[in-house]
Amino acid sequence: MSNTNVQIFDTTLRDGEQVPGCKLNTDQKIIIAEQLDLLGVDIIEAGFPVSSPGDFSSVEAVSKIVKNATVCGLTRSVENDIKVAAQALKYAKNPRIHTGIGTSDSHIKFKFRSNRDAIIERAVAAVRYAKTHVEDVEFYAEDAGRTDNEYLARVCEAVIKAGATVLNIPDTTGYCLPHEYGAKIKYLKENVKGIEKAILSCHCHNDLGLATANSIEGAINGARQIECTINGIGERAGNTALEEVVMIMKQHPYLNLDTNIHTSMLYGLSQLVSEHMGIYAQPNKAIVGANAFAHSSGIHQDGVIKNRETYEIIDPKDVGVTESAIVLTARSGRAALAYRAKNVGYELTKLQLDVVYKDFLNYADAKKEVNDNDIHSIIESSSIFKELH
Ligand code: KIV
Ligand code: ZN
Repeated sequence: MSNTNVQIFDTTLRDGEQVPGCKLNTDQKIIIAEQLDLLGVDIIEAGFPVSSPGDFSSVEAVSKIVKNATVCGLTRSVENDIKVAAQALKYAKNPRIHTGIGTSDSHIKFKFRSNRDAIIERAVAAVRYAKTHVEDVEFYAEDAGRTDNEYLARVCEAVIKAGATVLNIPDTTGYCLPHEYGAKIKYLKENVKGIEKAILSCHCHNDLGLATANSIEGAINGARQIECTINGIGERAGNTALEEVVMIMKQHPYLNLDTNIHTSMLYGLSQLVSEHMGIYAQPNKAIVGANAFAHSSGIHQDGVIKNRETYEIIDPKDVGVTESAIVLTARSGRAALAYRAKNVGYELTKLQLDVVYKDFLNYADAKKEVNDNDIHSIIESSSIFKELH
């Protein structure tokens, strides 16, 4: 792994699947895991094995079929969770146990009714125990976003000593601002003894719409793993969207950050996950939404028809979308109408276009979107139709 490479840890099948109504059965998890493996993700978090017999079977089944990625199972800092996860991961070529505990004062006081030193002891014991089962142990400091940096550094140092290979710094509640999250990662890089032995990982939630920005800021400040989900699904407002962080790194090469993702599969994966989970990305969703490459105002359409890059920073083919769409609405201009008419077989002169455009506007005012069939009927019922035939 080069120093510019950011590992993509996909948690669609774990954090993503926690969304109410999105539960997947084992067959569905296998179908999605196969595609994630082909997409090039480095780690697939397949589930939380101790949570239910079904999830245990899913993690076991995913472990058997994944060819390249590391397969990971989530646990609490509880011996039985870890033992069960290790059993579920038995068939994985590269197994990882992801264990951890809440480290913010709020978690320590109200969730665990404990104290800071006791939490470090539990964290260390969990990592040591996980190490007796697998070599690759990731530790998460839940609610790290609201954990004070000095204490977080103590936790990180202790779990590295116990053998953790990856340190996950979750902004569990999506509270951090990008500069704060970036500073947290920088602080850990500069203040944790032994940090060179571990990879820092970003796991950001989207409660304030900042998950992607925070993850990128984390990577800029030295994190080399990003935890994310397809379409950004996950608890509450969701997780960092995989397609967003990957395309940010690709479109901004000067950041010197890259991934192993085959980006032309992104749109297909988005559709696959939507179909199996039964929730669809909003139309204006970056990269994979139905309108991400659709142009509907006259000014934009004219620009895109002349040169796609006028209003597009990504070539749609790079993410698996066949082409940009010129959508006809009452806000569209002549250039868009001529373009779409040509696509369905009518080469209009300027004068003909003037006539048809008037009819088109009346039609479009009464309808949200004008489709190919509508174009045929507008032109064929127009006075210029005879000239065309
Ligand atoms: O958001 C979070 O803190 C988590 C951990 C369990 C990794 O999902
Ligand atoms: Zn999470």
